[in-house]
Amino acid sequence: MKAAEWIDLSGKVAHVTGGAKGVGAGIVRALHAAGATLVVSDIDEAGAGATAEEVGGHSMKLDVANSADVDKAMEETISVAGSLDILVNNAGVYLELGGPVRQITDEMWSKLWSINVDGVFYCCRKAADLMIKAGRGGRIINIASTQAVTPGVGVTYDGSKAAVVQITKALALELAPHKINVNALAPGPTWVNEGDAPPIDGSIPAPTGDPLADTVANRIARLPAGHWGDPIEQGKAAVFLASPLSDFVTGAYLPVDGGWLTL
Ligand SMILES: NC(=O)c1ccc[n+]([C@@H]2O[C@H](COP(=O)([O-])OP(=O)(O)OC[C@H]3O[C@@H](n4cnc5c(N)ncnc54)[C@H](O)[C@@H]3O)[C@@H](O)[C@H]2O)c1
Repeated sequence: MKAAEWIDLSGKVAHVTGGAKGVGAGIVRALHAAGATLVVSDIDEAGAGATAEEVGGHSMKLDVANSADVDKAMEETISVAGSLDILVNNAGVYLELGGPVRQITDEMWSKLWSINVDGVFYCCRKAADLMIKAGRGGRIINIASTQAVTPGVGVTYDGSKAAVVQITKALALELAPHKINVNALAPGPTWVNEGDAPPIDGSIPAPTGDPLADTVANRIARLPAGHWGDPIEQGKAAVFLASPLSDFVTGAYLPVDGGWLTL
């Protein structure tokens, strides 16, 4: 027996939502490196196309908050790539719709939850249906966050990611008889902006008076790994959860956070 076989995703088709950039693009690259065929979707059609082209995969425009479009995209995955074996629910929004509770409008709350929670539900529901019908098992990886268990971005985002974790556990239980493993991958601070990540040197910025922002800044300054995460590090964990390495892992919450949750 060779361990290399345990990470070989040849013959598997993976659909990654929000794969145009950031964590999603890192996951696309890592799954490709393990041999999977990729279908990359994003509300940013050009970005999805560019990521897909890099890995010789397929791309499609998809707003995960639209359930009819999600249904079509999951079916189209099978028609263009042959099957749907791995679904990575990565599309998500945060800072622009986060913040202190008194600044959160009804529209901000609904918009964030429509993407981060409704979108995950719609994709899981359709993928589960297609995977059960195909009868060949499957993997669903929901991208949560360390903010599911430690507050930081605010009620909208932190609450949405806690919901994703419990949705993951409920689905893991329900889908286990169909050999569909469902797990939550929880990134810690992962640099997805232009340019190099700022150094982490232990210097804690002066308090701003915003307990959310101050808590996050304080934790980042003391991050045990001593550097920001790179999207490919989230991708490596996704390969673990997508591959036979994790055959007996379902319903798990896997932090990939440089030690954030030790603080
Ligand atoms: N970067 C981090 O430090 C970090 C930490 C914890 C969790 N996460 C999670 O990782 C995931 C990706 O975040 P990121 O940091 O790469 O963000 P990002 O903004 O770099 O990328 C998010 C992608 O999702 C797409 N997207 C947004 N709304 C969409 C929609 N309605 N339908 C389809 N696609 C949509 C965007 O176009 C973009 O390509 C999110 O779920 C986020 O909550 C990120």
